Amino acid sequence: MKPTALITGASSGIGEELARLFAKSGYNLIVVARSENKLNQLKEQLDEHPVTIIPQDLSEHGAAESVYRKVKELGLSITVLVNNAGFGLNGQFEELSLLHQQKMLRVNINALTELTHLFLPEIKAARFRSIPKGVLNVASTAAFQPGPKMAVYYASKAYVLSLSEALVEELKETNVTISTLCPGATETNFFRKAHADHTKLVKNTMSAETVAKSGFLGFVKGKRVIVPGVKNKGMVYASKFFPRSLSAKLAHYVDS
Ligand SMILES: NC(=O)c1ccc[n+]([C@@H]2O[C@H](COP(=O)([O-])OP(=O)(O)OC[C@H]3O[C@@H](n4cnc5c(N)ncnc54)[C@H](OP(=O)(O)O)[C@@H]3O)[C@@H](O)[C@H]2O)c1
Repeated sequence: MKPTALITGASSGIGEELARLFAKSGYNLIVVARSENKLNQLKEQLDEHPVTIIPQDLSEHGAAESVYRKVKELGLSITVLVNNAGFGLNGQFEELSLLHQQKMLRVNINALTELTHLFLPEIKAARFRSIPKGVLNVASTAAFQPGPKMAVYYASKAYVLSLSEALVEELKETNVTISTLCPGATETNFFRKAHADHTKLVKNTMSAETVAKSGFLGFVKGKRVIVPGVKNKGMVYASKFFPRSLSAKLAHYVDS
C-alpha cells in the first residue's frame, strides 16, 4: 500500500506545486479545491499517477466533514494532510464586506482546523516506517505581525501558526510531523484575487515552485516552521525584536 497525501487548494499556485512534489515522492494524491477542471488538468499532467479529485468549496459550512465523508466512502485513508487552501483580502477592515471576510475565516481557519481534527487519528495510526506522515499547514510570513489593510488575513495566518506550534508540542511523543510553511510574497494568483496586485508586496516575489520545494523538504525533515528564502527568514527574525506597533507600520507601508 502506498502513502496518500490530501492537499487542499491544489488547483493552482503553491498547492499545485506541492501536489507535484508529493506525487514525485511516491504519495498517492487526494486533491481538493473548487476548480474541478484545473484539478482534472493536474491529474492528466501526472499521467498514470493515482489522483482522486474532490471538488469542494471549503468556505461552505460542513465542508471539512463532507471531504472526510467522501474519503471514507472511497475506502481511503491519508498519511499526510496539506492544509494549503486560502485567500486574502486587501482593504480597510470596515470597508471590506463582512460576508467575504467570514468566508476567508472559514477557509483559512475553520476548514484547516476541522480537517486536521478529523484526519489526525488516522495519520497517527498510519504505519509507514520510513515515510514522513503528518500535517503541513500553509501560513505566511504574515503570521508574525499585525497587517493593516489585510487585518483579518494576517490574523488568520497567526492562528494557523499558533495552532500548528501547539500541536507540535502535543504530539511530540509520536512520529507525527506538524510543519508550518510560512511563505513571503509568492508569484501565484493570490494577489490578483486579494485585490492586492497594486501593492509593494508584489515587487519581490519567489516562484511557487521554489516555495513548495522548501515546504516539502522542510516537512520531510520534520521542521516545525519553514520560512522560504533568505529575505523572508531575515524579516521574520527581525520581527522578533521589533515592537509590534512598528511591525504594523511596516506592514501598512508595504501593503499600500
Ligand atoms: N502567494 C503568496 O504571496 C502567499 C504568501 C504567503 C502565504 N500564502 C498562502 O499560500 C496558500 C496558497 O495560495 P497561493 O499563493 O498558491 O494562491 P492561489 O494560486 O490563489 O491558490 C489558492 C488555492 O486555494 C484554493 N481555494 C481558495 N478558496 C477556496 C475555497 N473556498 N474552497 C476550496 N479551495 C479554495 C484555490 O482553489 P479554487 O479557487 O479552485 O477553489 C487554489 O487552489 C494560501 O493559504 C495563501 O494564504 C500565499
